[in-house]
Amino acid sequence: MSNLFRKKQIGDLLNKREGSGLKQSLGAFDLIMLGVGAIVGTGIFILPGTVAATHSGPAIVFSFIIAAFVCALAGMCYSEFSSAIPVTGSAYTYGYIVFGEIIAWLVGWALVLEYGLASASVATGWSSYLISLLEGLNITIPHSLSGPFDPAGGTYINLPAVLIVLAISYLLSRGMQESAKINKIMVFVKVGVILLFIVVGVFYVKPDNWQPFMPFGFDGVLAGAALVFFAFLGFDAVSAAAEEVKNPQRNLPIGIIGSLLVCSLLYITISLVMTGIAPYTDLNVSNPVSFVIQLVGQDWIAGVISLGAVTGMMTVILVMLYGGSRLLFAIARDGLLPKVLYKVNPKSQSPVFNTWIFGVAVAFCAGFIPLSKLAELVNMGTLIAFMIVSIGILFLRKNKDIPAGGFKVPLFPVLPILSFFACLFLITQLSVDTWIACGIWFVIGLIFYFIYGRKNSKLNH
Ligand code: ALA
Repeated sequence: MSNLFRKKQIGDLLNKREGSGLKQSLGAFDLIMLGVGAIVGTGIFILPGTVAATHSGPAIVFSFIIAAFVCALAGMCYSEFSSAIPVTGSAYTYGYIVFGEIIAWLVGWALVLEYGLASASVATGWSSYLISLLEGLNITIPHSLSGPFDPAGGTYINLPAVLIVLAISYLLSRGMQESAKINKIMVFVKVGVILLFIVVGVFYVKPDNWQPFMPFGFDGVLAGAALVFFAFLGFDAVSAAAEEVKNPQRNLPIGIIGSLLVCSLLYITISLVMTGIAPYTDLNVSNPVSFVIQLVGQDWIAGVISLGAVTGMMTVILVMLYGGSRLLFAIARDGLLPKVLYKVNPKSQSPVFNTWIFGVAVAFCAGFIPLSKLAELVNMGTLIAFMIVSIGILFLRKNKDIPAGGFKVPLFPVLPILSFFACLFLITQLSVDTWIACGIWFVIGLIFYFIYGRKNSKLNH
């Protein structure tokens, strides 16, 4: 039994950081860009319309504030961990240090689900935005190539989704520095179109549209919060970059908290403007941001916004694929997954083979599997990881091997405990189907661990 809870030593991990072969090139600004790149995507370009129309009404702004609050708490816990132990693997590695191998494995397994399904579902969202954008230009993609495998419905593959995942995997396989550069450009474009939306939209706000403000009651606001939580996902991927960061004790907390702050401000403003322009009952569409701008007759600006959204969602796929690949890297380095996933290509100084394995798996899911039902699973996997990281802070503080300095969660131990329960609460707001699907995923994970990981763990030596 004690074998299952064997732990890693912080000193060993810090040595590994030095000998990883990964290049340490990212600064605080790069990390904020990486964070905003990962965070702002389908969650703001697609989700708020349906959530406002069916769950929260104009009070969706409260749903965003609640979700931002939960993420800020978890984000602070992530910051403390990542500045104390700046190694890759994020919550998985933190779990290994404070709770032991089996918990770490389960957290890692949950995160593979988060990164994999999130990149696949964002790729399908991207594909539908692209298809409607192209239709506006009178270019049609054949119906059979525009959706998951469903012969009865006439679709066989979501080709745009597959192609975008493979293209981004290719970019990532060429090394992180290059990806960070392209990411930065795309982030500027997407923040630019969001600001454009706000600046133009604010002139068309009619405060009457905010009445009734909370048509579905506070329950609706809470259920909405569990859904729009998706919009904030991705900041944890910043901590996945830990081994490629300069001066991590300072830069990682700035990257995590900074990117959350930027996104929260953007989301709160967008949701106020959006529900101010049109009655919430009209917002049940798949492209609400450009839709409301079209409603007020600014077609040209709506087109620019759609184009920006398509660009913006690509960075989410980029950072999520990146997070997933570095996670597999960390797990394989510990022996719990096959060694090939831990090979670094000397030329690009990045784990090329692993990037392709993950990319192809995600491309397959995005191309052939209907994902709409699985998206809630992403929230579930992430919330579980957040809970472990939050409560882990209580144990981390007891560890004497932590180097001095670095970020500390304020109001210890109140904030970490609050963060734990806040995440637990959001989990209770998710559907029973999601709970069952998540249970099945964990059972598969446990079987794999007992067949492979336990025997091959580096801690056996
Ligand atoms: N936060 C990411 C998005 O909204 C997952 O697309």
